[in-house]
Amino acid sequence: MKISIIGAGNVGGLTAMRLAEAGFGEIVLVDIVKGVAQGKAFDMQDAGAVLKFDCRILGSEDIKSVKDSDIIIMTAGLARKPGMTREDLLNKNARILKEVCLEIKKISPGSILIVVTNPLDIMAYLALRVTGFQPERVFGMGVSLDSARFANLIARELNIPFTDIDACVIGSHGEGMLPLPRFTTIKGIPLNEVLEEDKARALVQRSFERGKEIVSLLGSGSAYFAPSQAIAAIVRSIVKDEKRVIGVSAYLKGEYGVKDACIGVPCRIGKNGIEKIIELELNKEEKTHFSDSAESIRKNLELVKLNHEL
Ligand code: NAI
Ligand code: 2OP
Repeated sequence: MKISIIGAGNVGGLTAMRLAEAGFGEIVLVDIVKGVAQGKAFDMQDAGAVLKFDCRILGSEDIKSVKDSDIIIMTAGLARKPGMTREDLLNKNARILKEVCLEIKKISPGSILIVVTNPLDIMAYLALRVTGFQPERVFGMGVSLDSARFANLIARELNIPFTDIDACVIGSHGEGMLPLPRFTTIKGIPLNEVLEEDKARALVQRSFERGKEIVSLLGSGSAYFAPSQAIAAIVRSIVKDEKRVIGVSAYLKGEYGVKDACIGVPCRIGKNGIEKIIELELNKEEKTHFSDSAESIRKNLELVKLNHEL
C-alpha cells in the first residue's frame, strides 16, 4: 500500500508516524513549506531505528510524489486559532484543498481520499466535486473523533472502561454536531437509560465543546493526538478490510432525508472505502437537529460553490 499524507503539520506528522508504526505500507508525507516534510520523515525514520523497524516514510514538498497512492489523507490547511470557528477557515482552506484535489485527480485517480481539513463536511464535499471520484472513495474524518471524545467523557463520568462503551455522534463536525445518547450504549444499554437526563445532557454539551476547549488550552493550533488516532482507525479498516462501522462525513443521496451534501453518519468502512451507509432510526427531535445541521452545511456549501466556481 502507498499511503500519502498532504500537510506535514501537527495532524499530518503524527498520522504519518502512527501509520508507519502500524506497518500499513509506504508512507509519503508532503508539505508546501520547504524542508518540513523531509525533516519530519528523517526524524521518524530515526525513530524507527530506535524501535527496530523499517519506518518507510518519504518526505517531500512536491505534490507529484503522491502519484498512484492507494490512500490519500488531506490535512493541509490552516488550523483553528482561539476564538475561531471551524467555519472561519472556510475560504482559505477551500482554496488550498481545490488546488491539491485537482492534482490528486490527475496523478492518483484510483485512490481513496480521506479529508481532515476543516471545515470538515464542506471540505469533504469540495474534494468530492473537484476530484469527481465516486462518493465511496471520498469522505471526511470528524464524527469518529467526536465519538471518541464523548466516550472518554462517559468513561470518566461512570468510571467504566472504554471497552464497555460504544459512543455515537452524527451530524457535522462543527456547530451542528449531534451526540446521540439513545444510540450510545454501555454494554448494549442506551446511555439515556444509564445516566440521568441532566448528566447525559452535560456530557453531550462537553463533547460538543471539546475541540474548542482544547484549542483555547493550547493557545495555538488545535488537537492532533486524538485526530491522528481517529484517522489511523479509518485507514486500518480500509487496509485490513475490517468493515468496521465508523462515523465519517459521507455524501448523502437521500439517506436521512438529505441530498447532495457530506455530513457525519455511521458507515461500514472496508477496502473499497464506504461500503454501506447505516441509517439510524432518528426520533423527531434528532431528525430536526440533523436536518438543521445539514441545512447549515448546505448554506456554507453555496458560498464555496460561488467563490470557487464549482
Ligand atoms: P498545522 O498548521 O499544524 O498543519 C497544516 C500543514 O498544512 C502546515 O504544515 C502547512 O504548511 C501545510 N499546508 C498548507 N498548504 C499546503 C499545501 N497547499 N500543500 C501541502 N501542505 C500545505 O495544522 P493541523 O493541526 O495539522 O491541522 C490541519 C487541518 O486539519 C486544519 O484545517 C484543522 O482544522 C484540521 N483538523 C481537523 C480535524 C478533524 O477532526 N476533521 C481534527 C484536527 C484538525
Ligand atoms: C477538532 O475538533 C480542530 O476539528 C478539530 O479538534
